[in-house]
Amino acid sequence: MDEAARAVLARNDRGGYTVPTDRLYPFQWNWDSAFVAMGFAIFDIDRAYRELERLVEGQWDDGMIPHIVFHAPSDTYFPGPEVWGTRHRIATSGITQPPVFGMALRHVHDAAVAAGRPDAADRTLALFQAALRSHRWWLSARDPHGLGLVSILHPWESGSDNSPAWDEALARVPPTTTTAIRRKDTGHVDPAMRPRDEDYQRFIHLVDVYRDCGWEPARQWAVAPFKIADVQMTGILARSTADLIYLAEALGLEGERAELASMHHALTTGLAGRWRPDLARFVSLDLVSGEDVGAPTQACFMPLVALHVDHTQLQAVEAEIKRWLEGMVVGLPSTAPYSQAFEPKRYWRGPVWAVVNWLLADGLRMNGALELARQIEQSTVSAIERSGFCEYFDPTTGEGLGGDAFSWTAAAYLVLSRRGHGPSAQATRP
Ligand code: GLC
Repeated sequence: MDEAARAVLARNDRGGYTVPTDRLYPFQWNWDSAFVAMGFAIFDIDRAYRELERLVEGQWDDGMIPHIVFHAPSDTYFPGPEVWGTRHRIATSGITQPPVFGMALRHVHDAAVAAGRPDAADRTLALFQAALRSHRWWLSARDPHGLGLVSILHPWESGSDNSPAWDEALARVPPTTTTAIRRKDTGHVDPAMRPRDEDYQRFIHLVDVYRDCGWEPARQWAVAPFKIADVQMTGILARSTADLIYLAEALGLEGERAELASMHHALTTGLAGRWRPDLARFVSLDLVSGEDVGAPTQACFMPLVALHVDHTQLQAVEAEIKRWLEGMVVGLPSTAPYSQAFEPKRYWRGPVWAVVNWLLADGLRMNGALELARQIEQSTVSAIERSGFCEYFDPTTGEGLGGDAFSWTAAAYLVLSRRGHGPSAQATRP
């Protein structure tokens, strides 16, 4: 299996960067590459750095790291560069994705130092600076009012495209588009496992609106019909910030360390305020309606990757997660099985994603919930051993679904199958 996982990464390698899978996702994706870099760090440190370096080629002058970098043309994906109409040196999309980058960089750096690589400090430093610029972008472009929570302006930014968490907010977005929609995804994968056509019309409506703003963050913020201060995004950003603080210390960068520490304080304070004891979850905030996002999805537990919660909170979270796992062959479902929105085969409305489990298990380990963390890791590894390196899994049957030979599932396998015993996740504190 280990060799097979490496073979998936080799097969999806397009020259220093990895596509998520052939045809369905034929370019470089932001958070996919961060996970892939951590997978590579196990057996090829140079290639791990390359993955991040190639992603940063797509970084905009304002600091944003886009969700897709179109290094080479392909006609098997919609929407391509002509729809996004961005103006960076190389073609990219105009939105971003969860900033796992900082976390990945620390991981690669630690592996490089452990292997005694003489180029570790230089290569890490260049990528650290890119990461810092992107975190500054996050706070200025996506938290202009200083809530301590960063917002997504498009469901695709969340990485959980059609999650029930977006249903109410997306229903307010008109389904009209100026761009002609030519879906390619449903030609590669069973449409019953993909977002619906109506979701796509709203997804593209948002792209049209932001392209008309010239991809200018302040203009987009002012007119965005979809704006959610997201606990998953903020949790991941806060965690990556902690990992950058660790790197600033390792590299002897005192000014940067202090700047990151103040970002970290703002984000963890913002996140802590999103805990809802009656629900045993953290909840996102819809900035258009002013309402909490009530849908029970995996995002509600993601703050654990960044926060050290108290004993009562941890007990409540563990009990809630166990409730979601009851009767499931593999967990954690991306939507609570008791929710009416639960659809075990439809993308982010129920299926299990290996990389989500990876993050959640890290958060649980960091908070001392080792047994539950191990259970989630082991069930992920077994699901992959049974069904292969699929895009995601049906929690009720363990069946592998979506695209196959997926890079991030292979990376998750390489990392999680080595966890086995003991608290190997690094708990980070500034
Ligand atoms: C889908 C997923 C997203 C992922 C991308 C490439 O859009 O929702 O999280 O990054 O595919 O794998």
